[in-house]
Formats: sequence, structure tokens, C-alpha cells
Amino acid sequence: MNTYEQNPEVLIAAEPLVTVTSVDVDQLCARALHNVRRRMRLCAHPAIDSKVHEMLIVHTPETYVRPHKHIGKSESFHIVAGTADVILFDENGAIQQVVPMGDYASGRIFYYRVSGPLYHSLVITSDVLVFHEVTNGPFVRTESVFAPWAPDESDPVAVKAFLEDIKRKIIKRPFCQKSRIKLAKFLIIGASGFIGRHTLAQARALGYEAIGTASQSWSEGLIGLDLIRDRLTEKVPTSFFKTEEPVFVIISAANSKIDACYREPEVTRTINVTNTLRLMEDAAALGAHPVFLTSNVVFDGRVGYYTETDPHSPISEYGRQKAEIEAYCRSHHPDWFLVRLDKIVGDDPAENHLFTEWYRWSQAGQPIVCMTNHIFSPTHVGDIAKALILGCMQRLTGLYNVANNEYFARDELARQFFNILGREARIVCRNQAELGFLDLRPEKSYIDASKFIGATGMHFTPMRQVMKQFRAKLSADELQ
Ligand SMILES: NC(=O)c1ccc[n+]([C@@H]2O[C@H](COP(=O)([O-])OP(=O)(O)OC[C@H]3O[C@@H](n4cnc5c(N)ncnc54)[C@H](OP(=O)(O)O)[C@@H]3O)[C@@H](O)[C@H]2O)c1
Repeated sequence: MNTYEQNPEVLIAAEPLVTVTSVDVDQLCARALHNVRRRMRLCAHPAIDSKVHEMLIVHTPETYVRPHKHIGKSESFHIVAGTADVILFDENGAIQQVVPMGDYASGRIFYYRVSGPLYHSLVITSDVLVFHEVTNGPFVRTESVFAPWAPDESDPVAVKAFLEDIKRKIIKRPFCQKSRIKLAKFLIIGASGFIGRHTLAQARALGYEAIGTASQSWSEGLIGLDLIRDRLTEKVPTSFFKTEEPVFVIISAANSKIDACYREPEVTRTINVTNTLRLMEDAAALGAHPVFLTSNVVFDGRVGYYTETDPHSPISEYGRQKAEIEAYCRSHHPDWFLVRLDKIVGDDPAENHLFTEWYRWSQAGQPIVCMTNHIFSPTHVGDIAKALILGCMQRLTGLYNVANNEYFARDELARQFFNILGREARIVCRNQAELGFLDLRPEKSYIDASKFIGATGMHFTPMRQVMKQFRAKLSADELQ
């Protein structure tokens, strides 16, 4: 679901095709629970003057819907999750009718439409209420008339007294099912790194409680945790794990430099395999769900378009380390969530990734050197952060390839990049032997993410858009 934020309570769908999953709903709920007015709205219609307004709305018991009526409009809604009483009033504020509503499975009334100008309000009777509302647009403020006998929301004392009075008057129904909405907590191991940093920011932006670790890079608020010497419980308070919500421990820490793993196989194996597995076991023993980031280097790159069931064929020490963890998890913990990635890129010239490297080379007048025959599926780091949270919230287990479904020859992508930047660059191809690598790289490293896309409906940002965003973030001087 692609959206943009109109204000902290309102998201607007950014595409003509709007699809919503239960994970999107969970995320709306998480945001509502952290809002001042404890509400959230996703507008599926594009603009205030659209003829039909369709919204997914989240309210909580603290939400005050001041009784109001609409002139010349109808309003309908059906409940997605939770329970509420719709209250219909006469012109003087006397309750005329109470409509006890719940989702389809609750056995209550799940759909309601009012077409006359009747004063109405909602009393939410579950932790969270999610409903789909349809009304005719455009939205004209004067066509909604607020009841003069009901307090304005700016007066919290009067609002509280008013709601209590209504609750006393309406008939209490015996069942008030708990909503299925559950929050989650995230611990990002390696939150100073490229992917970890974005994942921590994404989790927090969605309103989840999230903390992160770093081993050497100083960054405010991160917990120091070195996989070589530290155990999880020595660094992260066990109270973080003692909670009803699921806790996900996303391991984005590694020494992922292919040649460093070749040069120092023992030290890197301690970090990347032995102590990573120890940390995952420690997390699981605390009741948390470990999530591991693996890589397409588990393949030799002769064939490409690898799936989750293709056999491992690593050609580097780094690849063997990743393959070892994948194999261990498959045989010992098939319920752990493993995310296998191809090359991750960003759109921020201030961060270190492939596009900034190419850009700096061109600034320095150097050629853009690309490995011959490298075919890959570069993927935006923001998409990976989203995919990790999405996968956790959907309780995915086992191994998933997570990658953009576009794939490019490396030199071809470089050409497209400099076309979009409007800069000349000399792009040259060299084979692996000429590049002076210590260890081997897979050439056809692109992976097939259809299993993940099928499970989540995730859309990946096209590379053209990522490169345009990169260009947009360069200053005018830098573009010279
Ligand atoms: N980026 C990609 O293109 C890509 C592609 C495929 C797979 N992956 C996988 O995704 C994961 C994250 O990649 P990334 O690009 O975000 O890596 P990165 O930018 O190099 O970040 C690595 C993180 O690991 C931490 N770390 C390093 N050594 C550690 C140690 N001994 N103990 C604890 N933490 C340590 C670093 O902390 P300090 O900053 O404090 O050192 C940093 O937070 C890795 O597992 C990588 O293999 C990445």
C-alpha cells in the first residue's frame, strides 16, 4: 500500500489501485494508538473533491465523535474489526436508536447506512475499532452540522461527562469482543548499518516500540553490543522481552565484506555464524522471534533467478557462512523468519551504497568499473525495511527471497543511472580476475521474490524511481 501523509491522522492512497492487507490495518492501528487524538484514517479516494469518499478508519475508546448530521449526503460503513454502538439522536439530543455493531464474525450488525440528516455518533466498545466508511464527496465542512447540545472536542471535561452519560443511557450488550489488533516490539541488531538503520526508523515511524544495537559506530540511543564478546542478555534488559506483544529480533549485524571474510575466516565466522546463532538462540529462549538477513552469495551465480528451494552452491567464504546459517535454521528452526537479499541500494547521496559510490567516482573523473556479466536485482533499502516489518507482522516463517523483480546487467544499470543524472560517465566492464578480488562473486545473482510477493502483496520501488529520487536529493551544485 503506497500512501502519503496529509497529517499525523490522515494517509492518502498514492496510487489508483488501492489494496489493503491486515498488516496495513495493523499499522494504521499502531499509528492511531500513538496519536494525540487516538485515531487514524486512510483515504482510498485521491482528493477532497472526489465524488466518492472511501476511508478505512481506526478509532479507539478514547475517540470522541461529536454527534453530527450530513446535509444531502448518505454515509455507510461496515466493521472490519472491533465493536461499537452507533447512536442515533433526535434534534434535541434524545437517543432514538442504538445499533450494536461488530465485524461479520461477531454476529452483530456489520453494515449500516444512513441517508437522512440524522444526528449520529459512535461509542467504541472494543480496544480498537476499524471500519470502512463510504460517503459522497466532495467534502464541504458546512455540510456537516454538529449537534449544538453536544460539547466541542476542545472541552475534554464536558466530553468525558457527555460520553459517560450516553454510556449510562444505552443498552449494554453482553459481549464486547476484544479486537485482534496486537502491537509488536522490535530489537534491531546492527542498527548503525545501512539496512538496520532504515529498519529501526521504519519500525518507529509505524509506531512500534523499537530499539537497536551497534558494535563500534557511535549513534545516539543505540545499545553497544559486539557479537564477538557480548551476550544478548548482558546488553539488552530482559524486561524488554517480558511482554505480551511479540518481540522480533532482526539480525542485521554482520561482517558482510566478501574479501574480509576470505582474509579472516575465523574471526568473521565467529561474528557471522557462531555468535549470530548464539544470539538467535538466546533471543528465542527469551520468547522472541529471531529474524535473519541472508544473501544470494549462497549461490555460485551460474544460473541466476534463484528460488528458496534451489540448493546452495557458495563460491566464497562469506557465502559459506550465510549458507551455514540458512541450513542450520532449516533443520533446527523452520519457524524462524529468514530474508534473503540481493544488492541493496538507497536514494540518499549522503549514505554509502552503490549509487553514491558511482556518483563519487564520476565526480573524481574516474571510470565506473562494473563486473562483466553481473546480473542482479538491486532493491531499495526502504523496501527492505518495510518488507522486514511486514513479514514479521504477517508471522512469516522460513526462508523468503526479498528483492525487486526488475533485474539489470550492472553496466546497464550504471548507464541508466547516469542518463537520469544527466551526466557523462565512462563505464567500463572488467571480469573478476581483472578486478583483483580476493574471493569470488556470483555473476548472475538475481533472485526470484515471487514467494514473498505472493504472501504479502508487497510492491517494490522501481529502480527508475529510486534513481530519480537520488537525483532530486542532489543539490544544484552537485548536479553540475
Ligand atoms: N547491503 C546489501 O547490499 C546486502 C545484500 C545482501 C545481504 N545483506 C545482509 O544484510 C545484513 C545487513 O547489511 P548492511 O549492508 O546493513 O551491513 P552494514 O551496513 O555493514 O552494517 C553492519 C552492521 O553490523 C554491525 N556489526 C558489525 N560487526 C559487528 C559485531 N562484531 N558485533 C555486532 N555488530 C556488528 C555494524 O555495527 P557497527 O557499525 O557498530 O560496526 C552494523 O550495524 C548483513 O547480514 C548482510 O550480509 C546486505
